[in-house]
Amino acid sequence: MKGFDSKFIDELKTKCDIVDIAGKYVRLEQRGSNFWGNCPFHHEKTPSFCINSVGQFYYCFGCHKSGDVITMVMELESLDFNDAVKFLAEKVNMKLPEIQIDDEKIRQSKKQKDTVLQILKECARFYAQNLRSNLSVKHLEYVKTRGLTAKTLNMFGIGASNDYTSLVTHLENLGFSKEDMVLSGAVGKTERNGRTSYYDALAGRLIIPVLDPFNNVVAFCGRIIEKKENVGKYVNTKETIVFSKSKTLFNLNNLKKIKNEKGLSEIIIVEGHMDVISLVQNGIENVVASMGTALTKDHARILKRYASSILISYDGDGAGKNATIRGLEILKEEGLDVKVVCLPDGKDPDEVIKIHGKEGYEKLVKNAMPLIDFKIEVLKNSSDLNSSDGKRKFVSSAIKIIKESPSPAEQEELLKTVRDLTNITYESLKRELYSQEESNAVKKVQVPYFTDNVGDKTAIASRFVLAGFLFDKPYVEGFDIKDVQVFLPVHERIKNYILSKNASGKKLKFNELYELEDEELSSELGRIAGLESEENKKFDQKKYFNDCLKTLKEEFIKKEISRLTALFSKENDLAKRAEIAKELSIMAKEKKKLSIR
Ligand code: CTP
Ligand code: MN
Repeated sequence: MKGFDSKFIDELKTKCDIVDIAGKYVRLEQRGSNFWGNCPFHHEKTPSFCINSVGQFYYCFGCHKSGDVITMVMELESLDFNDAVKFLAEKVNMKLPEIQIDDEKIRQSKKQKDTVLQILKECARFYAQNLRSNLSVKHLEYVKTRGLTAKTLNMFGIGASNDYTSLVTHLENLGFSKEDMVLSGAVGKTERNGRTSYYDALAGRLIIPVLDPFNNVVAFCGRIIEKKENVGKYVNTKETIVFSKSKTLFNLNNLKKIKNEKGLSEIIIVEGHMDVISLVQNGIENVVASMGTALTKDHARILKRYASSILISYDGDGAGKNATIRGLEILKEEGLDVKVVCLPDGKDPDEVIKIHGKEGYEKLVKNAMPLIDFKIEVLKNSSDLNSSDGKRKFVSSAIKIIKESPSPAEQEELLKTVRDLTNITYESLKRELYSQEESNAVKKVQVPYFTDNVGDKTAIASRFVLAGFLFDKPYVEGFDIKDVQVFLPVHERIKNYILSKNASGKKLKFNELYELEDEELSSELGRIAGLESEENKKFDQKKYFNDCLKTLKEEFIKKEISRLTALFSKENDLAKRAEIAKELSIMAKEKKKLSIR
């Protein structure tokens, strides 16, 4: 259950009625104990999204997505499991089990957070008004030199800070305390000669608000509008109770909107706020900024919820390239498919799109390099291929990189690249690759993602196997459900439904069972439906299916052996005892066969 115990999750699910939660996203109409609406996961005009209120799960007859209240929130809010749990817990005022503080403290910190968010919202409003007044002439001039349109300024809520004090006065007039202003990060505090003064932390700058996926302003980024000695080009709001740079991506709020409205297949990551703004203005919308170059595991985890394919488009300078490699590794470790958009030397996306336009930038995106090719490219550029020592070092590092590839065809391609760069024969490069091969790390076993995996190993295995039959998965082909052993009565029931449908020459579909309304079946179907999540499309399902079948067979044999042994000791008739002994030896052989396989 990924960090939460199942009792907590059960309680949460009891408190979060899936019908109530879904009702916040789609209009639902009740028919019997089912609720129908337009599916929030795909576009449609007639409702095919159905919620079973007894079983507390949903199923879409159009796109076949299904799951429980947690998977639904994961999908709709682009959150991972833990964050979806937190999101729901907050909605029903349940405190998270790992945090051992009392309710009063939770209430206090929530209140403080709300106040800070309110202050930041007011700041954003204030800054935006400034830019649209006649007081921010210089800011407007600057915005013009950057080619930003009025539409872009509005879309990103860009604003201006004109001085050190007016923001503080404005917030004071709204009734906020100095203490809360400082907590929000928008206002700084200094002590000089025993006097305390408060000031706008981004005084004089052009202001770019940073929003979270729920459209709360959580921070600001301020850019100088005139070059000055010893003054940083950019300053960000300091880390606060609502802002942590390592967990925030600029423009994620708009990305979420795109994902929910049109769907999203890949995301471009750039370094700077201005790069995002410029690309969006030019019609490239699927872009976020890591706000500098330090891409973190948290960023990767967040991005994974939006799309599985990522394009890194960092600046084409040395720092950008090294940051790109680090970022790529982090994203790859999270299982994302990553490519690198190579920008001309020293240029950033903003400059490229200004010079070459949307088409020019799109061409670079189309030609994005896979991670591994990029690594070889960077290695090549930092190697001295003219000296034999440099060549040797290059080959050894390149082979290490090539080994990371799981595809023999790709390895072959890359070996050829190295051959062409070094004039070393293909055969000897191949030999070097294989001689290093043994040291390969053990591959991780991948298992499916269960939203609700009650029961033992065999219950989980039969759930996965039954899901295979009910969702008519390709890996089930050639298997007969007759030969599958299940042990829970509810699984036996499902198996029998499938068998009787098969007897009439048809396949039983998940949604047919779904209409049978009884609690035992419904809650088990909910668990089976949870297996249909996106996450589960990414691992080797066939292999796992076979493992499950093996688990079930093992359990069957174990049960048979103990049943027959008991029978044997009770039996007095010699002929019958011999028969039981024969059956026992067959089981023992089967058992042996399984452990060899
Ligand atoms: N950055 C930051 N804090 C800094 C410096 C940089 O947050 N002190 C982030 C900003 O998001 C900035 C990005 O790092 O946009 C990349 O910095 P840089 O390449 O120097 O700036 P540009 O994005 O090219 O900004 P501009 O085009 O406005 O010069
Ligand atoms: Mn720039």
